[in-house]
Amino acid sequence: MEEIKKSTTEDLEKLSALAANLWTEHTIAELKQEFSELLSQDGACFFIKIAEGKPVGLAQCQLRHDYVEGTSSSPVGYLEGIYVAPEFRHRGYAKQLLTECEKWAKEKGCAEFASDCSFGNNDSLFWHLSAGFDEAGRVICFVKKLGH
Ligand SMILES: CC(C)(COP(=O)(O)OP(=O)(O)OC[C@H]1O[C@@H](n2cnc3c(N)ncnc32)[C@H](O)[C@@H]1OP(=O)(O)O)[C@@H](O)C(=O)NCCC(=O)NCCS
Repeated sequence: MEEIKKSTTEDLEKLSALAANLWTEHTIAELKQEFSELLSQDGACFFIKIAEGKPVGLAQCQLRHDYVEGTSSSPVGYLEGIYVAPEFRHRGYAKQLLTECEKWAKEKGCAEFASDCSFGNNDSLFWHLSAGFDEAGRVICFVKKLGH
């Protein structure tokens, strides 16, 4: 059985377990808490790919109202994260998940859809390019602690 399912709170367990492979700095419990809040919001959405009867991929998208590099409208749909289990890659599943995210953003009135990728993540870079995204810019993030 193969399908893409828009996630509800019933999928929290599956969603968090899959997402822990992507956001490895967070525990499943932390992700569950965060996703539970996001699922109650109108401006966020998750999709799960089911293949061979089990969850093998997920995509998280949100509406972004703040400025997004390279865009000229607001809000825009934003791909916050996408993951497909290694043994299920190169079957077009991530693109199917993206298509659902884009449809969702369009229904929410968005004219543009954006995403990002870490330096060195070539799977992600080449996947984005193959999925029709154009590179809009490269950013280095900085942070410092403020003394009391
Ligand atoms: C990025 C990711 C979601 C792609 O999943 P996928 O289901 O394999 O993607 P699709 O099948 O839709 O597209 C595959 C296409 O992307 C491109 N691609 C993906 N990885 C590539 C690589 N390392 N080099 C070149 N092209 C690549 C190719 O065009 C490929 O087509 P092919 O299968 O004919 O070679 C998957 O690699 C993944 O989960 N990576 C780890 C998590 C991650 O980095 N997520 C993105 C950041 S949030």
